[in-house]
Amino acid sequence: NDLLVGKSFLTLKNHSEEEIHYLIDLAAELKAMKKKRIPHRYLEGQNIALLFEKPSTRTRCAFTVACVDLGAHPEYLGKQDVQFGKKESTRDTAIVLGRMFDGIGFRGFKQSVVETLAEYAGVPVWNGLTDEFHPTQVLADFLTIKEQKGRLKGVNLVYVGDGRNNVATSLLVGAAKVGMNFRICSPKELFPSEEMVAYAQKLAEESKSDIVISDNIDETVKGADAIYTDVWVSMGEEDKFKERIELLLPYQVNRKMIEKTGNEQVMFLHCLPSFHDLETEIGRKVYEEYGIKEMEVTDEVFQSKHSFVFDQAENRLHTIKAVMAATNHRQ
Ligand code: CP
Ligand code: NVA
Repeated sequence: NDLLVGKSFLTLKNHSEEEIHYLIDLAAELKAMKKKRIPHRYLEGQNIALLFEKPSTRTRCAFTVACVDLGAHPEYLGKQDVQFGKKESTRDTAIVLGRMFDGIGFRGFKQSVVETLAEYAGVPVWNGLTDEFHPTQVLADFLTIKEQKGRLKGVNLVYVGDGRNNVATSLLVGAAKVGMNFRICSPKELFPSEEMVAYAQKLAEESKSDIVISDNIDETVKGADAIYTDVWVSMGEEDKFKERIELLLPYQVNRKMIEKTGNEQVMFLHCLPSFHDLETEIGRKVYEEYGIKEMEVTDEVFQSKHSFVFDQAENRLHTIKAVMAATNHRQ
């Protein structure tokens, strides 16, 4: 299938419902092949650059392992190691990388950088998170939901927390494209931009998805098939702990919130990493300064039968592999 050959993957905006389903189903096939140890070296002999400005566990490892499984060589280019950003422009970097590599995975701050890379590289560019979007994450989340529920259309997904961040925004676009019912439950200060909501509402008319943005917890979480949350402070906004804790403490995903859904089988989802214990440096700092041991989710919910967070994490591998194979496989 050459639906996506030669295309970049930058936001979900440019991809149709058909393309999103194609990527999720391809990921499921690749996952089954990997479990059965059936080789799938669709990118044999290719070289892939991984240009990362921000840290990463899942995304970096998913790109790396996916490259090796597909027969390609991954080259990790951390910001400190390359000229990009200090001595060389994004455009020039894009042209140089495009002359040597067959594809580029990018993680960083500005969405405009990943767009510029795609404009000038001449090879597919994949967005592994920017301040605005995290589209490969959504594919893994949707695969995880489809594995449990058998479908996406009509599933009630509720995102609780920072409604403006990259993950919330990408889920909004993705859900509106595939006809999932999607609610963002967050304080008014953290509602997604009106422009994004209007964009999603328009898509939703076609896909028959029901989009709700609300600060009312009881009403919004009721009837959820899945509750999704993300960190209250994203990478690059580390000066915002105080204000976010004040705003978001009522929106913590805890047992009470799970009960409010009225659904015994409700799934709990999180893109990870997550602040739910004191084992991390940031966790301890937050405890010392603000006296709270758990932030966006309690350890109890995180570790409960509701939680599918490690399926999501694993599915990052299979979905990123699908994106690379679909956009770069030369038949
Ligand atoms: N979910 C996610 O993107 O995790 P990393 O920051 O570890 O890549
Ligand atoms: N919103 C988070 C997602 C991390 C995967 C961040 O940008 O830090």
